[in-house]
Amino acid sequence: MGDRLAGKTALVTGAAQGIGAAISDLFKSEGATVWGVDRTPGVTDFTFDLSNLDEIDDFVRALPSTPEILVNCAGIVLTRPFFEIEREGFERTFKINVTASFLLMQSIAKHLVEQDRAGSIINLASNSGLMPKLEQLDYGASKAAVISMSRSAALSLGPKKIRVNAIAPGVIDTPMTQAIAQMRSEIRGIPPEETLRPVVESLPLKRMGSAAEVAQVALFLASDESSFVTGQVYVVDGGQWMH
Ligand SMILES: NC(=O)c1ccc[n+]([C@@H]2O[C@H](COP(=O)([O-])OP(=O)(O)OC[C@H]3O[C@@H](n4cnc5c(N)ncnc54)[C@H](O)[C@@H]3O)[C@@H](O)[C@H]2O)c1
Repeated sequence: MGDRLAGKTALVTGAAQGIGAAISDLFKSEGATVWGVDRTPGVTDFTFDLSNLDEIDDFVRALPSTPEILVNCAGIVLTRPFFEIEREGFERTFKINVTASFLLMQSIAKHLVEQDRAGSIINLASNSGLMPKLEQLDYGASKAAVISMSRSAALSLGPKKIRVNAIAPGVIDTPMTQAIAQMRSEIRGIPPEETLRPVVESLPLKRMGSAAEVAQVALFLASDESSFVTGQVYVVDGGQWMH
């Protein structure tokens, strides 16, 4: 328990499990009021499907107050070979990973500016947005867009005292990673753990990361300790980028 976020309020999307849940837990333990959002009912403070793009602004207006910390963590990944990428899945990936994150960021920033308050926005990208991964063309492209969008927003919002940074995790032990292993297992005809083993062995740190380790970087970016940091991409991937 600490006080690194004492007095602050954070909205965390995708908070029902994985990285979003770890970020919510850590932020609460550091004194923040945290509002979790997820489409999965009954787990978080708010049940809301971010693919309802037209309702995002109303959702933000209905919050008890404007949070000065936003963590855009909700995301989806579809894993399939190049020629099996269908337009509907491609567009759904961008809708949730990019468009919903943008609209939430824009809506919260607008209220913060109106109230003349500082803020910190953290967008979950992926190292897939920096390096190509087999069978994840649209996911990687969407995460590259998240990185670009974070930098552009940082440029626009810096003069308004709102910092924007991205985190680009590598292989993190969450339900999403297990789902990817399952999808690759079906494509490649090998057991799910065999799709992960060579990747993990290739990492300098020789293991998957934990959601809690990603949450520690989010905590730094949300707190005043990073008060002069904006427009950055923090790669949290056990050194995978060096391959
Ligand atoms: N796990 C990894 O290895 C990894 C690596 C790089 C980046 N990331 C990114 O980190 C973020 C979190 O990943 P995770 O592994 O915890 O994923 P996860 O699949 O375990 O959890 C994601 C959560 O987001 C929620 N969500 C998805 N679509 C939603 C929607 N339309 N509206 C509301 N909620 C929605 C899901 O219900 C789920 O609770 C994602 O953006 C992901 O792309 C994860």
